[in-house]
Amino acid sequence: MTESRRRQPPGLNGPISWKFLTQSPLTFINGLAEQYGPVARFDVAWYRYHVLSHPDHVLRVLQERAGNYTKETHDYWLMKQIMGTSLLTGDGNLWKQRRRLIQPLFQRRQLEHMAIQTVAATDAMLERWLKQTRDGAPLEMVSELVQLTLRVVGRTLFSTDLVDEAPAVGTAVHSINELANWNWKTLVAMIPVLNYPYQRASGVLNQLIQSLVTARKSDLEPSGDLLTALVQARDEETGQPLTDIEIRNEAMTLMLAGHDTTAHHLAWTMILLAQHPQVMEKWQAELQTVLGDCPPTLADLPRLSYTRMIVEESMRLYPPVWAIPRAVTEDDELSGYHIPAGSYVLLAIYHLQRDPQWWTNPNEFRPERFDRAIEPAPRPGAYAPFGWGPRTCVGAQFATAESQVILARLGQRCQWKLVPGQQIVPEGLITLMPRNGVRMQVQPRV
Ligand code: HEM
Repeated sequence: MTESRRRQPPGLNGPISWKFLTQSPLTFINGLAEQYGPVARFDVAWYRYHVLSHPDHVLRVLQERAGNYTKETHDYWLMKQIMGTSLLTGDGNLWKQRRRLIQPLFQRRQLEHMAIQTVAATDAMLERWLKQTRDGAPLEMVSELVQLTLRVVGRTLFSTDLVDEAPAVGTAVHSINELANWNWKTLVAMIPVLNYPYQRASGVLNQLIQSLVTARKSDLEPSGDLLTALVQARDEETGQPLTDIEIRNEAMTLMLAGHDTTAHHLAWTMILLAQHPQVMEKWQAELQTVLGDCPPTLADLPRLSYTRMIVEESMRLYPPVWAIPRAVTEDDELSGYHIPAGSYVLLAIYHLQRDPQWWTNPNEFRPERFDRAIEPAPRPGAYAPFGWGPRTCVGAQFATAESQVILARLGQRCQWKLVPGQQIVPEGLITLMPRNGVRMQVQPRV
């Protein structure tokens, strides 16, 4: 390798930086990208990280050289403690086999079923809200939306209502996020004995999933949902079914990956709409014209184009997966800098999607920038809320359709505003969420 190809990127010197220990992960990563440019280096003990913030890096790492960038990272290791090795956390042949098996489950018929379940779940939530808030009492919106998306995933993928289990699932997700934060700063969670919150949360979720799998195996007339597909799946070469552990890992993954991200995305969208009355007004006009009082269906979504733009713009400003990590298995060169095998990269999606090089007035909430009739598509790699390349989110269509249906139903039936005086601070843990939740006042739309 020539000297220039071994050029080290700029960044923080020393085995650990004070900023790393004291700043929030989001502030730290954005700060490095801003200060040092497209490739920024930092070390945590003997681990070397590179923060990447150029659209070409997204293409290179997640598509062109995807085979040389694996999920053997510290964040995925944390997730594996609860989900095991699965479509989300695994690599290589296991990933290929699971992707082939699971992707077809997100096709149109499933999405139609999801849209119906979503309207029913949203209506039930609205009934409860309107009773609870009659005297003007505010709601904590993040936890409301987490319950809602959990219910949708449960009914759609497992034909069951997971809401009774919501506290257990909530505790598990919370402990993953908390540990991610703590662990991010100190890495001490790499020591197995300190992983007690994981073990406990994992135990509760294991029991839940195991009982669902057992029930499905003895079902005489199984439904066509994800759980049935996992139970009935056979390996193409060996004809072997998935083991109970493998079924459990995939079911757990889809339950966890499939609700928290969408709930946080919806919370950010409701916040943005509350902060931008002119967007809200234009959006209301679309809902009225396209839907009137009829509940939204999957077939309505192509005509709800402003709703789609709102969803896309909200995911640009607040990408639920705000940074994508990978482990480097072969030496590479990015923006002229040497990226050695054995180091880690973090694609700084939040930063990339607000970079003025690729976005005009990047911090402004302007859904029209996603109107393809008037604006060109973003530069490839500059917008990647669902990742990129072969490992792009398997639930992307599901999540986008679900978000549009939920928002449309909420917009038809109620209006909301932020409780004044609260500070809304983004916190980037595993997902990007409002640090202390968000309180809103909700009223029926008359
Ligand atoms: C707004 C909602 C969502 C966002 C922003 C989101 C984002 C992402 C991103 C960025 C990735 C790629 C991660 C990486 O490359 O390291 C991913 C992967 C994945 N997501 Fe999502 N996701 C969402 C909803 C969902 C839903 C609803 C499901 C399932 C029901 C789901 C299941 C998965 C799975 C299984 C993977 C791994 C795919 C693979 O590696 O082949 N996600 N998601």
